[in-house]
Amino acid sequence: MTSFWSAWIIILTVITLVLVTWLLLANRTTTVKDEENPTTGHVYDGIEEYDNPLPSWWFKMFVISIVFAVGYLIAYPGLGNFKGVLGWTSVGQWQADVDKADAKTAELYAGYVSTPVEQLAENNKAMRLGRRIFSNNCAICHGTEAKGGYGFPNLTDKDWLYGSSAQEIKHSIAAGRNGMMPAWESILGEQGLTDMTGYVVALSKGNAAEQYPAAAEKFAMLCAACHMPDGSGNPLMGAPRLNDDIWLYGGDPGQVKQTLALGRNGKMPAQGETLSADKIHLLTAYVYSLSNPVSPAKAKP
Ligand code: HEC
Ligand code: HEC
Repeated sequence: MTSFWSAWIIILTVITLVLVTWLLLANRTTTVKDEENPTTGHVYDGIEEYDNPLPSWWFKMFVISIVFAVGYLIAYPGLGNFKGVLGWTSVGQWQADVDKADAKTAELYAGYVSTPVEQLAENNKAMRLGRRIFSNNCAICHGTEAKGGYGFPNLTDKDWLYGSSAQEIKHSIAAGRNGMMPAWESILGEQGLTDMTGYVVALSKGNAAEQYPAAAEKFAMLCAACHMPDGSGNPLMGAPRLNDDIWLYGGDPGQVKQTLALGRNGKMPAQGETLSADKIHLLTAYVYSLSNPVSPAKAKP
């Protein structure tokens, strides 16, 4: 909330208070001067209406409410960073709540931070916590079961863009990742694209080079630097393995052709600034546990 909107709300509130006060005072005195017939002249179904002043208890309650509203406005004038006379701001209040929650969870996590990821992954209690953090922060892209989807990698299999070690997973989470696959439309041309698509699809079946010799040559020249000569991929570049049947952007020829023509640019947002180090450690262990299941005998409750 910017200061402008805080000021806007304050001005509206003040105007409303002034109007309410005016309305109250304007209706306080009786306007009927006719002593003989002190009604307002309204008749409904034979019922006449007197023009008496507001009952004083009601009037006083109204005045108290208005005074309270003015006092409240001075103490808590707005939203965002707008400071009241007590020094209260909504941002400050939010921060205090967050700090309190963090202090509470820090206690909860304290034993886990110093435990190596591989070991933590065997601790069921820690993994239940990890799962909860995952649901809140990661499931929106990777899915509740972490099985991924179009453009979002599956985190439960043995196929990794950036490597499967605890250290690599933690880096993926904390610092984020950005896969850059160039577009090849202008370089390969329509025929070249079709040919290369056939080659890439055939890579997972093992007879690609015989079927598409021209594309094989181009692959060695243009693609092998990132995807390796045999198409096994390179975790340093985040270049996926192409000689298997796991696809980030779909494996049927139409989808592969689109990938080649337009390029791809998958982004994993860095979590290091939004999540505490304890949470990232737990998440790393949780993601690690998904593809390294622990035998029930070894698991801790
Ligand atoms: C906005 C969507 C989004 C969110 C939220 C997100 N991710 Fe990702 N994540 C991605 C994408 C996209 C990639 C693949 C990046 C690429 O294509 O280079 C990825 C990659 C990864 C990888 C690397 C996978 C591999 O194969 O090497 C890990 C690990 C990961 N994410 C874990 C997480 C965790 C844990 C969270 C929650 C804290 C999370 N992600 C939240 C989109 C997201
Ligand atoms: C600069 C390195 C680089 C080069 C060169 C490169 N790629 Fe890629 N490629 C990538 C990266 C990184 C990704 C993953 C993109 C992402 O994460 O969004 C990718 C993704 C792909 C995919 C999608 C895989 C999937 O699982 O959906 C295909 C297919 C592909 N590349 C084929 C090729 C072919 C064919 C060439 C050569 C014409 C090529 N690439 C050249 C880096 C490269």
